[in-house]
Amino acid sequence: MNDANLPSINRNEIDEIIKTVADEAAAYLARLDGRPVRSQGDKTIPAPLAGPLPERGEGAAQTLRALMDHGLDAAVHSSGPRFFHFVTGGVTPAAMGADWLATLLDQFATNSLSSPLAVGLEQVSLDWLKSLFRLPQGMGGIITTGATMANFVGLAAARQWWGERQGVDIAQQGFVGLPAVPVFSSGYLHASVIKALAMLGIGRSAVTTFSRHPDGRVDLAAMEQALRNLKGAPAVIVATAGEVNSGAFDPIGPLADLAQKYNAWYHLDGAFGLFAALAPGTRHLTAGVEQADSVTVDGHKWLNVPYDSGFSFVKEAGLMNRAFAYTAAYLDGSTGGNFNPGSMGPEGSRRARSLAVWATLRAYGRAGYQELVERCLLLAQRMAARVDAAPELERLADVPLNIVCFRYNPGGNSEEALDRLNQQLGQAILDDGRFYAGTTQYQGKVALRPAIVNWRTGGGEIDEFIQVVRELAARLLG
Ligand SMILES: Cc1ncc(COP(=O)(O)O)c(C=O)c1O
Repeated sequence: MNDANLPSINRNEIDEIIKTVADEAAAYLARLDGRPVRSQGDKTIPAPLAGPLPERGEGAAQTLRALMDHGLDAAVHSSGPRFFHFVTGGVTPAAMGADWLATLLDQFATNSLSSPLAVGLEQVSLDWLKSLFRLPQGMGGIITTGATMANFVGLAAARQWWGERQGVDIAQQGFVGLPAVPVFSSGYLHASVIKALAMLGIGRSAVTTFSRHPDGRVDLAAMEQALRNLKGAPAVIVATAGEVNSGAFDPIGPLADLAQKYNAWYHLDGAFGLFAALAPGTRHLTAGVEQADSVTVDGHKWLNVPYDSGFSFVKEAGLMNRAFAYTAAYLDGSTGGNFNPGSMGPEGSRRARSLAVWATLRAYGRAGYQELVERCLLLAQRMAARVDAAPELERLADVPLNIVCFRYNPGGNSEEALDRLNQQLGQAILDDGRFYAGTTQYQGKVALRPAIVNWRTGGGEIDEFIQVVRELAARLLG
């Protein structure tokens, strides 16, 4: 036995593990397009994977075998082409390979001392993303775990700015003595922004929504009046590029103009909607992005890198440093001037998410991502056309991007009965498992809202999905 080996951990198993996992991965990926999203049956963890902590482990090879034999089937196959729930992308081949390398290298991606590779690739990737989304190259940025945390970072910078405008360093002193932070938005605001405001101590109820339309679109005049009423006191405006139920956009340019006129912070949540900038047909929806003070984009949605990945960009990078300063003598005495993401966001320890982001952008480039976005836009139009052609399906919203909001409406039912039917239909789709698509409330109506962002999805899946919805709906009515 090698002296350096722990008696119970056998390093000789590593070769076998790598080989068997790679073989299983290849077989899994070969089946992914055709397999249902979820196997029917038991929705709990398979019994062979449960049980008490073993006193003596069974070794890596046997354990991994159990995980592959029982775990792969128990997973939701959300990286395949039939997953339209939430807004969930797949994993491109380049991103998958690079993410495996991130585990292999196990980097502590907090600063340029702990991992010059991960942090360097993070900086390169963020510059590439700014170019892709037409954001100013001078913006600061970091990779986060997703759009919720990117919203948190952007709004933390907003909070810091808001305090400094009143002579208070909130990161240092807290909110003591300050009034409430006014946060203005349309009805498109995503729940994660509210969560971020709660985490920041700004509070969920800080938000005032300006909309007179049931779809949530902004009432610009009312927002302007409220800004005027503040008489120069600082505020935060949050705009949404890509509302999660319909893909609708706030008017990014006009809201930016308001922010500028009244000297408000302008935060833009473009978790998936900012990808509209890549396609000539939808680029106009993002006009004005360069005016935002902080911008959120997701990685695990339309970029098709694995969970968890998102991006926060902030025009005045110093605000990120002041909000998230992370200093201790042992961490790094020489970070002055270096990119130091552990001091620009909430995480101290961070995994090397940059490898997957860098690899997928390098592998497919601007043209590859434009192609992917345009394909998804066409597929959404195809799905909308299939919905419109089905007499018992009713589309509830325009399709400006990649989400199709519709419901089953066979006629002759009250709104309450339709809500019940569509709730049952949503559950039936999940139970059936061939596809995943969830229900939402859109303008008070229960609706389906499939979102298309996966690089593997093609026209066949769109047509089959609508067939499945019609089949399950017909079965519901008996
Ligand atoms: C507009 C918008 N913002 C934020 C989020 C939250 O993203 P995440 O789950 O990556 O935190 C989503 C998720 O769908 C979203 O659509």
